[in-house]
Amino acid sequence: MTKTGIMVLMAATLLSFPAAAQDLGRIEFSNSCAQCHGADGKGDGPVSPHLLNAPPDLTVLSKTNDGIFPIDRVYGIVDGRADVAVHGGRDMPVWGDRYMTEAMEENPLHYSWIEARAIALNRVLSLVEYISTIQE
Ligand code: HEC
Repeated sequence: MTKTGIMVLMAATLLSFPAAAQDLGRIEFSNSCAQCHGADGKGDGPVSPHLLNAPPDLTVLSKTNDGIFPIDRVYGIVDGRADVAVHGGRDMPVWGDRYMTEAMEENPLHYSWIEARAIALNRVLSLVEYISTIQE
C-alpha cells in the first residue's frame, strides 16, 4: 500500500471513530504487543529476554528517523505481509495475517476475504496510530 493510501485510511478511521480508534490501538497494544515491547513500548516486556532479537524501543522511532514518525515502515512491519526482516527470520508475528484469520474465524459465513482484510487493516492502523502517540 502507498504512503498516501495508508494516511487516507488512517484519517478515515480516526475521523469516523476518534476515541474508539485510539482506545482500540491502546488496548490492542497491551493485549498483543506489551509482552515483548513492554507496557510502555520501551522494549522491556516479560518475554523479551527469551527472544533471539531484542524487541526495539518503540518510543524512539521518530527520534531515530529525523523527528518524523516512519509511518509506512511501521505499518509494513506490523502488518508484516510485505515482510521486513533485515536479518533473516523474524521474531515478530505477522499480525496482518493473524488478524485476518481471526476475522474469518469469527464469522466464516459472512466475511469475504476483502472484509476480513479490512478488519485486519483497521486493527493494524489503530496500532500504528497508537505507536505514533507514544513517541518521545
Ligand atoms: C514475540 C515478541 C513480539 C511481539 C508479541 C510483538 N513484537 Fe514487535 N518486534 C519484536 C522483535 C523481536 C522486533 C525486531 C525485529 C524482529 O526481530 O522481528 C520487533 C519489531 C517491531 C517493530 C519495528 C520497529 C522498528 O525499529 O522499525 C514494530 C513497529 C513493532 N515490532 C510493533 C509491534 C506491535 C504493534 C506489536 C503488537 C501487535 C508487536 N510488535 C508485537 C517482537 C515482538
